Amino acid sequence: LLAGTAGRPLAGRRAVVTAGPTFEPIDPVRGLTNRSSGKQGYAIAAALAERGAEVTLVSGPVALAVPPGVNRVSVETAVQMQAAVEAVLSDPAGPADIAVMSAAVADWRIDTVAGGKIKKAPGGPPTFSLIENPDILAGVSAPGPLRPALVVGFAAETTDLEANARAKLSRKGCDWIVGNDVSADVFGAEANAVTLFRRDGTTQTWARQSKTAVAQALADRIADHFNA
Ligand code: CTP
Ligand code: CA
Repeated sequence: LLAGTAGRPLAGRRAVVTAGPTFEPIDPVRGLTNRSSGKQGYAIAAALAERGAEVTLVSGPVALAVPPGVNRVSVETAVQMQAAVEAVLSDPAGPADIAVMSAAVADWRIDTVAGGKIKKAPGGPPTFSLIENPDILAGVSAPGPLRPALVVGFAAETTDLEANARAKLSRKGCDWIVGNDVSADVFGAEANAVTLFRRDGTTQTWARQSKTAVAQALADRIADHFNA
């Protein structure tokens, strides 16, 4: 063992992490978004970097500092987030080894964004039609030369955590899903209760702990995966 590698078990690995919400504009002053502070994703990016990985954090709009040693790419919409992730995956530096998709991506966007501010009118409120956003996690998980060796998704659920998480694992084609019980106080909070569901059927549940501790535990499992 080389000196220093014990504390940096992900040295030489490249990782892409998505975090935060996406913001889908309606007009120049309004938009559609999801609830996400970005804290969990930022903590995961930090934990992977601490273990030696070269981390690109593709982040929606959040009020958080860039973790030390992490390269942040800031985006607003789901389409921009997908393009930024694809840019990391097709980097001439080589394929990414790890993808952790923790962003709360807006499922829909407004089909026609108004160029100017929509004004209140006597005829009543405007109506909007929505189109579905691309599923970034499913795209990253699709088999192919650019697929990272380990793709981890999240499932934020208010009911039936295991069934919903397992369904997402197979529907999206990722390797692991971090199931997140959001029925209790999670959004913007410091603590999180999660269960890791793996494609091989194994699970791991962590007691409610800080988002930093969840990130450390997940990064340790990722390091184990590459050093088994
Ligand atoms: N995700 C993504 N791109 C999307 C939607 C979701 O990459 N357009 C990712 C999230 O980052 C997360 C996982 O997919 O890792 C699950 O997101 P979730 O919203 O729970 O799944 P959906 O398939 O959108 O299902 P739901 O109808 O429950 O919202
Ligand atoms: Ca969704």
